[in-house]
Order: sequence, then structure tokens, then C-alpha cells
Amino acid sequence: MPAASTASVLHQVPIELGDRSYPISIGTGLLDEPATWAGAPPAAHALIVTNTTVAPLYAARLQKALAGRHKAIHVVALPDGEAHKDWQTLNLIFDALLENASDRKTVLYALGGGVVGDMTGFAAASYMRGIPFVQVPTTLLAQVDSSVGGKTAINHPLGKNMIGAFYQPRLVVCDLDTLGTLPAREFSAGLAEVIKYGPIADMPLLDWLESNIDRLVARETAALAHAVRRSCEIKAWVVGQDEREAGLRAILNFGHTFGHAIESGLGYGQWLHGEAVGCGMVMALHLSQRLGLVGMDFVERVTALLRKARLPVVGPALGADRYLELMRVDKKAEAGEIKFVVIDRPGSAAVRAAPDALVREVIAHCCRPS
Ligand code: NAD
Ligand code: GLY
Repeated sequence: MPAASTASVLHQVPIELGDRSYPISIGTGLLDEPATWAGAPPAAHALIVTNTTVAPLYAARLQKALAGRHKAIHVVALPDGEAHKDWQTLNLIFDALLENASDRKTVLYALGGGVVGDMTGFAAASYMRGIPFVQVPTTLLAQVDSSVGGKTAINHPLGKNMIGAFYQPRLVVCDLDTLGTLPAREFSAGLAEVIKYGPIADMPLLDWLESNIDRLVARETAALAHAVRRSCEIKAWVVGQDEREAGLRAILNFGHTFGHAIESGLGYGQWLHGEAVGCGMVMALHLSQRLGLVGMDFVERVTALLRKARLPVVGPALGADRYLELMRVDKKAEAGEIKFVVIDRPGSAAVRAAPDALVREVIAHCCRPS
């Protein structure tokens, strides 16, 4: 007799994008449950794209769960890490697709964190000019942010996520159980992207996070389910209004202008993306305060929460000139003018330029001396 299923869908969040709409399933035991995958596109062939760390943990289990859905399921395990989010590694996905005679209906499953998700999405957008893909995020950061909304990309040595496409997945499955194997530092990096949603859009979430940060750090399922659901709801609300970042969606980049400079300035992979974003949020908050938009009490409140999430809140010593140079290579920059996501009042964000002198003050205040 087959074992009774222990899978439980705790929340479903829809992404409403007309004919490109799709659901996010959030729950436990989802990976192994064949019924989870009923909403994936039908196809004879599937390719699971993962990496050398996640493959031994989850690839065989996903392959087994998908067995009734696709006749042939291959796996490609990419080298792990942000430093491999590049053309050379992307090509390994195209190699696997071509070696296995993949056609236009072949479904890609992105099994891993944001790096795997972003690269798989970009491969799906470009192989034969577009094939379907499913996001199976296994990091907190990927479950609350990168797997949702259709931004796909690889890095260029001169700039983060500079080469990519908007391309939506057909389904997102967040199995909270997979977070159990995530290293503590990676888990904290994911918390930065959860905390981000409070100052930009949802003060009740910020209140909830302050009361529940210890439960989250302890990875309690109910707390995780709430944090992932609320994050996905906010992201769905933003992406549903502005899929291609004509305006509103830029608020999701709170902390990212300073954060991307930290990541590329130190070399990809030195600081984790979420760590850089968390520290970038502290810097963007100080900039907001110096622009007269929020009080120091709010800056300190968010900084204290980031500390409790075990995130760094002091920036590295790149030097103000280097920070400014790196921040000019940002997708929000226009004619070399850097645009920052600032908090214009608690729970609301806006995009604006700031005088270099003020930015230098923030760098001097928030970063180690160079
Ligand atoms: P990651 O993909 O590098 O994963 C972090 C580490 O955890 C890796 O070593 C990975 O192998 C490992 N890992 C993954 N799942 C695991 C598990 N369940 N158990 C044990 N180890 C596991 O990093 P990330 O933080 O998930 O994603 C960061 C990336 O996401 C960055 O490249 C960033 O630019 C991108 N991003 C994209 C978007 C978007 O909208 N597309 C949004 C935010 C971030
Ligand atoms: N993580 C930023 C965005 O999806 O727009």
C-alpha cells in the first residue's frame, strides 16, 4: 500500500499577470508529493537544474516525484555560488538541453537558491526563444523574493545581474522543509529580504517581525509559513502592478544600490547577496534620514531588527569613490546619475537621486574606514 501523503499546502498566493499568471504553493512535504506538480506544464521531457550542493539533498527526490509527469527527467548540477552566475555556467544548462535533444515543450525545474533560479529562468527565456520553467526555491531568500516575479539574470564582471530577461515561471513551489538544511548564514541572508518588505510596504509586517524574529531564527514552521506568505503577497501586489519595473517595482530594490556595490566591490560571493542588501538597507535608511524623510528612531529600529537577524550592519571599507563608481553601474541609474530607493515615510518607499556629498557622508558613517 502506498504511504499516506504527509504533504500540506499551507498557503497559495496567486501572481496575477493575465495569461502569464501562476500560483505560489507554500507548505511542507511538497517536494516528494506527486500532486504538488500537477500544475506544471505537461511535457515528455524535463530538466532539473540544480547545483552541486543541492543535488545530493533534493534532486533524486524531485525526480521521483515528477516521474509520473514526464517520460524522461535529466539533472544538471552547476557549480555552486554567486561567482558562477556567469555565461560559462549558463552554457552548461544549454549543453544539457541540447545533449538531451530537448524540444520547445521541455520543462526546466530550477531546484535551488536564487542563483540557480535566476540562471535557469534566463536559460528558459532564451533556449529556442522560450521554454516553460518551474521555480522550486530551496533558500529562504529564493522563497520570499527571487523565485517570484520573473526577473532572470547572470552577472557581468562589471555589474551585478546586468544580463537577463523578464520571464515568468509557470509555477512556484516553496517547500518549507527544505529550509531545514540551509546553513545559518544563508538563512539570515534570506531574512534580510523578508525584513525589506516592512519599511517599503507593510508596517504591520515589521511589527510582527520584531515580535517573532526569534521564532524565525529557530525556523519554526508556522513562523516561516507566515513570513514566506506575507513576503510573496507583497511581491505579488507590486509585480502585478508593474511587472517590468517601469516605476513601482523599483521599491523592491531597497538596499540594493549600496548592496550591489558591496557585492561587486568585494568580489561576488564574499558577502552573501542578502547580507549586502541588509547592510545596504541600513545605508539607504541613513540616506533617507539625512534627506529629512524619516527620523533616526526608525533607522535604529530597522537596524536593531537586522542585528537580531544576525546580519552585518556595518559596510566594508571600499572607499567612497569606489562605492560611487560601482553604484553608477546600476539598472536604476540614468545618464550616470545614481538613483536610490529611499523610505519616504515608514511603510512607503520612493526612488530619487541624492547629492554625492550626502552619499559620501552616509558611507563615512556606515562603513569601516578605508
Ligand atoms: P544561492 O542561490 O547562492 O544559495 C545560497 C547557498 O545555499 C548556496 O550555496 C546553495 O547551494 C545553498 N543551498 C540552497 N538551498 C539549500 C538547502 N535547502 N540546503 C542547503 N544548502 C542550500 O543564494 P540565494 O541567497 O538563494 O540567492 C541569491 C541570488 O538571488 C543572487 O544572485 C541575487 O542576485 C538573486 N536574486 C534575484 C532576485 C530576482 O528577483 N530574480 C531577487 C533577489 C535575489
Ligand atoms: N528583487 C527585486 C525584484 O524582483 O524586483
